[in-house]
Amino acid sequence: MKLLAIESSCDETAVAVLDCSDAERGAAYRILGNALLSQIDVHRAYGGVYPTLAKREHAKNFVPVLASALEEAELVHESTQTIDPEIRSKVGHILEREPLLAEMLLEWATETETPDIDAIAVTAGPGLSPALWVGVNLAKALSLLWNKPLVSVNHMEGHIFAALAEQDEETLTIAAPAFPALALLISGGHTELVLVKDWLSYELVGRTRDDAVGEAFDKVARLLGLPYPGGPEIARIAALARAKDEPSGYVLPRPMVSDNTCDFSFAGLKTAVLYLLKGKPEISEDEKQKIAYEFEEAVAETLWKKTARALEQTGAKTLLIGGGVSANERIAAVFAEELSRNNPDVSLHIPPRWLTTDNAVMIGLAGYFHARKKEFADIDTLKADGNLVLA
Ligand code: KG4
Ligand code: ZN
Repeated sequence: MKLLAIESSCDETAVAVLDCSDAERGAAYRILGNALLSQIDVHRAYGGVYPTLAKREHAKNFVPVLASALEEAELVHESTQTIDPEIRSKVGHILEREPLLAEMLLEWATETETPDIDAIAVTAGPGLSPALWVGVNLAKALSLLWNKPLVSVNHMEGHIFAALAEQDEETLTIAAPAFPALALLISGGHTELVLVKDWLSYELVGRTRDDAVGEAFDKVARLLGLPYPGGPEIARIAALARAKDEPSGYVLPRPMVSDNTCDFSFAGLKTAVLYLLKGKPEISEDEKQKIAYEFEEAVAETLWKKTARALEQTGAKTLLIGGGVSANERIAAVFAEELSRNNPDVSLHIPPRWLTTDNAVMIGLAGYFHARKKEFADIDTLKADGNLVLA
């Protein structure tokens, strides 16, 4: 089955084409096309992602990104057919809030044969609503133009499937892990512990009560005068302090580690950094590195303690880590070390680096599991939902 996958929950405009097939205890995928445009440069000036700006950028960039993924997949052929006026008008209606996208899409579709794909998977949420709607409406428009079924994918489910993917050049395979599996999903928008009871069966075990962990990285980076996105910057300078092998001299809290839930709170950690910096108009590079180091240690330890609690409560046999923050090497090292010491029977899965941040491939990975069960979405009721929960 060939699947076109669309992702626009935050600041990445992404389209992928996957050739999906069943494999023993799972599935195998060939990546035929993968196009991704990051808006990081647009948002950097503001130190974070602005939803209406993200929406505008998605609307402007989706057609070129779509065309590029399909061209890479060699699925674009010139057309001589015209679009049925009734379909043209329905597409115009679906994209009435995105007139530029409607115009670009109709012009492109007029010149392009219906590609040889079987279904269209799209991120329906969670994420930034205005951004999500652009992808959902594009998917609906394509479903009408090409007469292909729609598959609705939860973005967090995409991160879970990415963590399960094993890569061999152009091919990804996903094999059933030992269930139940626990997924720690850490990104700029989310911090959650989700129990994966079986394929496509989820239960929320814990979540952040305020900031997401990636958001804390980004905010602390800003306090330290580092550019957005802050996660990789903090990691970079924390590593410099770690290499010096001397005490940081700073102590930051490990928020909520002793309460007996699996919930997180990261807003206090950011505030603690703010207080550390108060009354210090100038801080040296060395001090910055030490603060970044202590912050990263505090985050890694807090994430581990909560995850350890959740492993104990759920009896999970597999641990998956997904989302942009799972690219953090210190967090991965702490988890590998603690697991080998405390939970040697639990296997750890972290996505290949390029699959940690938002992308459309992971939406296709999860989308295929729905599509092969014929779980298709209804074009009239499918909607973007910024707070969509996994169930
Ligand atoms: O999953 P993602 O690309 O987008 C969201 O869904 O939010 O995650 C982006 C987040 C940003 O907050 C970024 O600072 C963080 O992931 N991040 C990192 C690292 N690389 C990206 N945080 C810590 N360490 C990293 N190496
Ligand atoms: Zn994400």
